[in-house]
Amino acid sequence: MKMKLKSMKIVALSALSIIVLAGCGADKDSPGLEYMPDMYRSPAIEPYVDYGHMKERENMDSKNHLSALVPPVGTIPYYGTDSAEVMLMLPYKRLPNVSFKETHGVYDGMLTAENEYELAAADVNPLTLTADNADAIFKEGKALFTSNCAHCHGEKGNGEGPMVKSGAYTGVPDYANLTNLSDGQIFYSIYYGKNMMGAHGPILTKKEIWTLVHYVRKFQNPNYGPGVSVMADTVNAQMQ
Ligand code: HEC
Repeated sequence: MKMKLKSMKIVALSALSIIVLAGCGADKDSPGLEYMPDMYRSPAIEPYVDYGHMKERENMDSKNHLSALVPPVGTIPYYGTDSAEVMLMLPYKRLPNVSFKETHGVYDGMLTAENEYELAAADVNPLTLTADNADAIFKEGKALFTSNCAHCHGEKGNGEGPMVKSGAYTGVPDYANLTNLSDGQIFYSIYYGKNMMGAHGPILTKKEIWTLVHYVRKFQNPNYGPGVSVMADTVNAQMQ
């Protein structure tokens, strides 16, 4: 009986050491046999990781599955607790018009027959210009404009960007002729695009677009700023 127990112990010990040794590998970068893979890599899905190919191992089930998926429509990004900022994160309430189906066709199922562009005229820019924030907003607006808009609209906002000058593109307006547009309509056009201009909603945040609305106003009236609206100034100029 004693002998039997001893040989069982020996068998158990050698089985254990075989398992332990088999877990090691010659490759010093390899984690060896993984008893608890969760401890080696985060089970959370991270963007831009090809889970089908990890550490020279191929997993055909997850090969070529996208990990950097676009969030579902209406998803609200969360990056702060300031209530004004949170309002800016909520989805844009205006829907694209049915006529956008052909030109900016990604919004199937969300289209409306209402003339939202006209309704958007009532929307007010939630970023109020003050003496404190105006400079920062115009600076940010300039940076956004230079990288997203100037190639068509031109650095001076006169519709003479390099794309237009090269002859590749036409129909870009001079902002100076668009003082009749309301802030809400400018926002709508930047968000969904208009005719030859593509939609910028997917690549800019609402805050960035409202910042650009302020910057577009600056082209229309160099004095535009805290307490000076484009319209008011135009009226004043006419009265003088
Ligand atoms: C590919 C060229 C192109 C780019 C890039 C572009 N636009 Fe435009 N934009 C146009 C054209 C063309 C129109 C004229 C649309 C029309 O009225 O038919 C226009 C019109 C506008 C209007 C007038 C909208 C209205 O309601 O009449 C505004 C404001 C405007 N763009 C702002 C911007 C801003 C801000 C950006 C950068 C985020 C931008 N655009 C990027 C080509 C472009």
